[in-house]
Parts: sequence; C-alpha cells; structure tokens
Amino acid sequence: MCNGKHVLGVSGSLRAASLNTVFLRAMSLLCPVGITFEIYDSLDKIPLFNVDDESKPKPAVDHWRNALSRADLILIASPEYAHGVTGVIKNALDWIVSSGELLDKPLSLPNLSVRAHLAHSQLSEILSVMGAVLTEECCPRSTLDAPYTLPDATEFALIENAQICSRLNELWRKIELVITNTKKL
Ligand SMILES: Cc1cc2nc3c(=O)[nH]c(=O)nc-3n(C[C@H](O)[C@H](O)[C@H](O)COP(=O)(O)O)c2cc1C
Repeated sequence: MCNGKHVLGVSGSLRAASLNTVFLRAMSLLCPVGITFEIYDSLDKIPLFNVDDESKPKPAVDHWRNALSRADLILIASPEYAHGVTGVIKNALDWIVSSGELLDKPLSLPNLSVRAHLAHSQLSEILSVMGAVLTEECCPRSTLDAPYTLPDATEFALIENAQICSRLNELWRKIELVITNTKKL
C-alpha cells in the first residue's frame, strides 16, 4: 500500500459530459487508501501560450505548474480532435516546456478511444520529449471488447460495470506500483 502519494488527473476535454473526465471521476471513486487523487479543473483558465510571458506567468499558469509539481504521478485522459491532440491540453503543456515540471515525472496515459490512435501517439511523444516517464503498463488502450468508458455513462455507471470496474482497479494497481517504486523528485 502507498502512503501519502498524490496523483493528479488531467482531462484534455472541457466538455461537461466528457468521457475522458467521467473516466477520471470513476478513477477518483476507486482511488486506493493511501493515495490522494485530484482532478485538475482549471485548464480553461490557462491563457494562450506566449513565450514572452514565460518568465512572468499569470497566476493560472503558476497554479498549473504547482499542481504538476506536487503530484507523484499524472494521469492524463485526452481525446483526439481532427487527428491530433486537443488545443486545451497542448496549450497547457506548452507552458511547461521550459519550466520542466514533467521532467522524470511518472505518467499514466490511457487511450480511452477504441478507434483513435493518432492523438494518443502524438501526446505520448510530446510528453516523452518533455521528460515524462511513460510506462507501457500505465498506458492501456480501450478496445471494443475491453473498453474503459461507455457512451453517456456516468462515473457511477462505470464502476457498477464489473468489467470496467476491474480494469480501472487494475490500472490503479499498476499506478500504485509505479509510484511505490519511484523516488520522490
Ligand atoms: C472537434 C472534434 C474533432 C474530432 N476529431 C476526431 C478524430 O479525428 N478522430 C476520432 O476518433 N474522434 C474525433 N472526435 C471525436 C472525439 O474524440 C470523441 O467525441 C471524444 O469522446 C471526445 O472526448 P470527450 O468525450 O472527453 O469530450 C472529434 C470530436 C470533436 C468535437
């Protein structure tokens, strides 16, 4: 069992009924004892990235950077838009290219879509170049036979589905293993 570890969930979709956010809420309901899980809910406050403002960032950018720094692992769930990553997640990540909050940071990046793969591999590349540590076991992929989300399902419906619940718990076990074996940065 982990003690005092903190995981930050980040959704790349601002949509109220986002499948990616619902997945994070379901993960929150299943969060193991000894781990705290926070879903970052302020990506929409982050201004558009401007290199000129990097060294004097707005409070929303400091807030984002601090939230990432505090986390032992970051769980990102983000959809594909037009064969690419969403502007929301890319904008937030551009703000930390130089400040380096993802350097050596363990990351979980599930692909919740059964058909999209371009955005997931792009995001994986973006996060890797920023120094994040992505482990295969923490980056599962939804398939038609084994989804992690369901259309229009609430987080409660997801954890009431025995197979999905078991998959989410399995992901938590893998996350726990990674953060147990990672020294505090
Ligand atoms: C503007 C836009 C572009 C999209 N482009 C793609 C795409 O290229 N490939 C794909 O598989 N799905 C695409 N979709 C579908 C979304 O990935 C899908 O609806 C996903 O559930 C959205 O994530 P969310 O539910 O967390 O908001 C697109 C949706 C929108 C709104």
